[in-house]
Parts: sequence; C-alpha cells; structure tokens
Amino acid sequence: MMRLTSRRLQRLGCVLALRLMALVLREISGAWALDNGLAMTPTMGWLHWERFMCNTNCKEEPDSCVRYRSFGEKLFMQMADLMASEGWKEVGYEYLCIDDCWMAPQRDSKGRLQADPKRFPSGIRHLSNYVHSKGLKLGIYADVGKKTCAGYPGSLGYYDIDAETFADWGVDLLKFDGCYCDTVEQLADGYKHMSLALNKTGRSIVYSCEWPLYMWPFQKPNYTEIRQYCNHWRNFGDIYDSWQSVKNILAWTSSNQRTLVSAAGPGGWNDPDMLVIGNFGLSWDQQITQMALWAIMAAPLLMSNDLRHISFQAKTLLQNKDVIAINQDPLGKQGYLLRKEDSIEVWERPLSNLAWAVAVVNLQEIGGPRSYTISLASLGQGVACNPACHITELLPVKTKLGFYEWTSYVKTRINPTGTVLLQLKISQTTF
Ligand code: GAL
Repeated sequence: MMRLTSRRLQRLGCVLALRLMALVLREISGAWALDNGLAMTPTMGWLHWERFMCNTNCKEEPDSCVRYRSFGEKLFMQMADLMASEGWKEVGYEYLCIDDCWMAPQRDSKGRLQADPKRFPSGIRHLSNYVHSKGLKLGIYADVGKKTCAGYPGSLGYYDIDAETFADWGVDLLKFDGCYCDTVEQLADGYKHMSLALNKTGRSIVYSCEWPLYMWPFQKPNYTEIRQYCNHWRNFGDIYDSWQSVKNILAWTSSNQRTLVSAAGPGGWNDPDMLVIGNFGLSWDQQITQMALWAIMAAPLLMSNDLRHISFQAKTLLQNKDVIAINQDPLGKQGYLLRKEDSIEVWERPLSNLAWAVAVVNLQEIGGPRSYTISLASLGQGVACNPACHITELLPVKTKLGFYEWTSYVKTRINPTGTVLLQLKISQTTF
C-alpha cells in the first residue's frame, strides 16, 4: 500500500482545494435566465435558411422551394419524416424550424399573419400537427421590425397577436429576426415585448433572438438583460457554406469570449448560427471542426442541409453521440479559446463530473498534418487532469489514448483546417 508522506499529503490538500475552487466557480457563474424552463441544454434541430433560403419558385424548383406540400413534393413534411425515421430524433435533433419566406404578403382581415396559401395550402396548424405526430417540435420565424429581412410582414405593432397566433398554431420555437427597426430602443423594446407576449400565451415556446447581432453596430449589448428575455441569441452575421465563414465565426467568438462565455448557461445560449455540415462548401476536416467547435461553444445545433441527400459520412458526424453529449453537457458552461500558438488553437470546455473537452484546431492552410504536444498541467485551469486522467480522442476517430498523469504530455496530429477533439476524465489513481 502507498504511504502518505507529508509531501504527498500537501499535494493532495492542494489538489482538493483547487478542485473545490473550480466547483464553486462553476456554480456561481451563469446569470439569471429567461424563466420559461426551456433550452436547459442547447436547442437541437433543423432550420431551413442556409440550405433553402428564400426559394419560393416552386414551379422551377419543386423539391427545394420553401413550402409544406403540394403535388407530392413536400420540403418540411419530408424533413419531418426523415428526422423521425433516420435516427435524427433519437440523438436529439428535435425542432424542425421554418425560417423566412413562409408568409403571405399581407396579414388577414383580423391582422393575423397567414402562411402563403399556395406553398402552405393547409396552413401552419396542419404542419405542426404533422410534426408533433412524428414526435418532433415546430419552429417558425418572424421579425421584430416592420418587415422580415426578406420583406414579408414584420411583427412591429402586432407582438401580442403574433404570439397568440403562434401559440394557437402549436408552434414550439420562434426565431425572431431584427430587420427593419428604426432605433435600438425599438429593437430592445420589441424583443422584450415579444418575450413577455410568448410567456403570456402559456405555451412553451423557445425564444431565439438576433437582438445582440443588430445591437453591436450601435452599442455593446447588455447580455445580462438579453439572457433574461431570450433562450438563445445570434451575435454575428449569417453563416455561409464556406470555411471562411466558419473561420470568421470562430475568430469573432474567441475575440469576444470574455463577454460571451459568462452569458451562456442553462436556459440561455450564444448562437453562432446553423451547422452547414452535409452541404457543399466544407471539406471533411472542416466539417469535423464545425461539429467539434459547436460542441465546445455550447451552441444550438440547428442543421441546415438536405436530409434527403446527405452523405453517410456527414450523417455519422452529425449523429456522433459522444460529441453531442459534450454539446448537451448538463453543466452548461460554454468553452473558450485557451491559447493560440503558431496557427494552432487550443479550446477547452468544462463538463459535468469534473471532465473536460479539449479541441485542437490546425488553422494552417498550407502543408500537411501537424503535430502538437500539450502539457496536461496547462489544461482545465490546472485541474482537468489532476492527479491523472483518462483521455479519449472523439474526433476525427474515436480512440482511447489511455491513462495520463498530471505532469505528462499528450501528442496530437491535426490535418490542415481540421480538429482533434479530446475528452479528459479525471481519475483518482496515479501510477
Ligand atoms: C437574416 C438572419 C438569417 C435568416 C434571414 C432570413 O437576417 O440572420 O438567419 O433568418 O435573415 O431573411
């Protein structure tokens, strides 16, 4: 049996004190969130915008125009079928979300929004019944200002009536955009008003905002306030199906992480926009990077792709249960960039049960795979692997790397624009 010398006792004391401090720090952060009991972990689902945009030309493009169903072609119905039948629902993708361009150009005689009668002939209530019958939830889109970004009727002046309409239709999530507002006060008042109006309906409706995105050009958003009204909020411009776009989002997020990380927690999340995995613009390594980093950032996982035409590889990545478990970790702490050295970024995220996730990203776009060695003592505020830990590589390939002591190093090898995602689980044993 190992004898506890006074040095060992001292070290043990130190370890316990550090661990206790880490626990306390984890508990006290995470400000008051919107009290609707929703989004206790980041929302997961599918959102039509990046892949299908405002395609209303059903004559020329019957398969990809924004519509419920007509003559056998049915974008949202088909997505609902596939979400339920192809394993998406099982791993957590629950919300099927309509974005802009679903509306008729005018409100009805009672001032209510209405769906485009040609593209949604049986209306949203019918679609929500269908989606619910598949065990899924329905998301819809509206705008705080005079018009939606694509020019359809905005909710300004109609917040209560629109909230009631959505609740009547059985909607479960509202993405509320911020186009066509005249002032920042109007923007802020509108976002708050809609939050209260949704709550007043008595229906559980996840409230997805773009408030800070529209606020940044004028003043630094007050995230404590935003968190009190929204379940998640977009901070940065729209994602495109390109590596440049994913890179810009990551760079913006890390440069503002002091503000963003403390704002996130159960009930309220920073939203770096949709997952574009399974489309055309990202290489395999870049898709891995998006999945890994969206998990580290505790981001809503809203895919925008065509579930009818998706490669087996992309599907496997999007349905990776280990990575989803990191994204959905109940502790609800957003990860952050720990350091950047010579185009290698190390990100980390604290998880429940004293575990940590670590992502090593190779941003060098010339040359081949690069090796990068990490001192374990430098991770997780010094406690992630103290006194020892089991390390598993989750991406690109699930591999048990083994048992490591605090003073040791782990070697990674990362493809250009790719990521190695590791999970560290604490162990009380040392060699
Ligand atoms: C943008 C928004 C996009 C999409 C689009 C619809 O402002 O950021 O995600 O919703 O409007 O017009």
